[in-house]
Amino acid sequence: MSSMPGSHNARVLSGMRPTGALHLGHYHGVLKNWIRLQNEYECYFFVADWHALTTHYEETAHIGDHVWDMVVDWLAAGVNPAMARLFIQSRVPEHAELHLLLSMITPLSWLERVPSYKDQQEKLKERDLSTYGFLGYPLLQAADILIYKAGYVPVGEDQVAHVELTREVARRFNHLYGREPGFEEKAEEAIKKLGKKNAKVYREQRRRYQEQGDHEALEVGRALLESAQNITLRDRERLYGYLEGGSRIVLPEPEALLTEAAKMPGLDGQKMSKSYHNTIALREDPEEVTRKLRTMPTDPARVRRTDPGDPEKCPVWQLHQVYSSDEVKAEVREGCTTAGIGCLDCKQHVIEGVLAELAPIQERARQYVEEPQLVRNIIAEGCEQARDTARETMEEVIQAMGLAYR
Ligand code: TRP
Ligand code: SF4
Repeated sequence: MSSMPGSHNARVLSGMRPTGALHLGHYHGVLKNWIRLQNEYECYFFVADWHALTTHYEETAHIGDHVWDMVVDWLAAGVNPAMARLFIQSRVPEHAELHLLLSMITPLSWLERVPSYKDQQEKLKERDLSTYGFLGYPLLQAADILIYKAGYVPVGEDQVAHVELTREVARRFNHLYGREPGFEEKAEEAIKKLGKKNAKVYREQRRRYQEQGDHEALEVGRALLESAQNITLRDRERLYGYLEGGSRIVLPEPEALLTEAAKMPGLDGQKMSKSYHNTIALREDPEEVTRKLRTMPTDPARVRRTDPGDPEKCPVWQLHQVYSSDEVKAEVREGCTTAGIGCLDCKQHVIEGVLAELAPIQERARQYVEEPQLVRNIIAEGCEQARDTARETMEEVIQAMGLAYR
C-alpha cells in the first residue's frame, strides 16, 4: 500500500452491518482485506448495529445473536484484536452525538441525492423506508468515520457515495466552524514552531499549492505536518487548514479505499450472497460444504459423463479461479473439454481447496464459541479504546462549534 499518499491520517475505519454468520463472500471480499490492513494501519473495525435498524427496525429480536456471530467470524477469519480495535457502534454513543450535530448542517438535498436512498427504497419495497433514520443513514456513516478522523475507509463500490458525502460534510463543518478570530496570525505563529527548516519547506509548499494549484505540494505539506513533532493538535489543525485556505481543519476528509472487486462466485455462478441462497458459511459443517459443492450446477451441456464441457459455461470453473493452481486449471480445462474427467473429479479439487481454507478458521471459531467471555472481553476493550478516541474528537467538535460553555 505504498501508493497511499502520506497526507492522510494512517487510521483506517470500516464497519459491517450485523448480518449473522459470515460466508466465503465476506471472507474473500472484505475480511482478507481487513487482515492485510491491520498489519499496516491503526485499524478500527466495528459492528454497525444502528445501521441495521435503518432498514430492519421491525425485526430486532436477533440483532444480538447476529452481532456476536459476526464478531466470532471476524476473529476466526484472522482479524486480530491485538492489532485492530474491534467494537460495537451502539456502545460508543458519541457516534450518535456527532450524528446529531452534523445533522444540523447537512442540507436535506445532499441526503436525498445519495443513490442508495432511492435504490434501496425501490429494492426493499416490502419495507416502509420513508423514515427519518433511513434518509439519515449515510450521515450516520459520516459520523462513524469522522469521529475517528479516519484517513481511509475500505468499502465496496456501493459505499463510495457515502464516503463522498462524508467528505462534503467534513468540508462544510470545517468551513463553518474552523474559522477563528486571528486565524492567520495564529497559523503564522504555529509555523515558527515547526523549526526553521520545516517552516521553510511548509511555506514553500503552501505557496506552490496556493499560487499554482500544485497538488503534489499539498501532499508534501501534509506529510510534513503529519510527522511534525512538538506542535499541539490545535496548531496542527490550523496548519493543515492554512496550507489550503483560511480555516482550521477539525474534521479531516477521508478517502475511500476501494476494495478491488474480488467478487467471490457463489454456488450458482452469481456473486455469493445470502439473498441468492448460494453461500458457504465460514462455519459450515465440512460434510455440508462437500455436499453443496458436489451438487452445484455445472455446464448444462454436460449431461452424460461422455459429453465434453465448456468451463466458461460452468460455475465450478469460477471457483477454480479462486482455489486452484495454474497446473490444476490446465488439467481441468483439458479434462473438461475432452470429457477426460468427470465433474465430480473436477469438483474434488475445489472441495479440497475450500475445506483447507475453512479448517483453520473453524478451529479458531471453536475456541471462541466455547469461551464466549473471550469475545465479550475483546469487544469491551475495543469499545473502551474507541470511545477514548471518539471522546477526544467530540471535545474538539464541541469547542469548535462554540458549545463548550460548561
Ligand atoms: N453502510 C455500511 C454497509 O452497509 C456499513 C457501515 C456503517 C460503514 N458505517 C460505516 C462502512 C463506516 C464503512 C465506514 O455496508
Ligand atoms: Fe464444470 Fe468441471 Fe464439469 Fe467442466 S468438468 S463442466 S468445469 S464441473
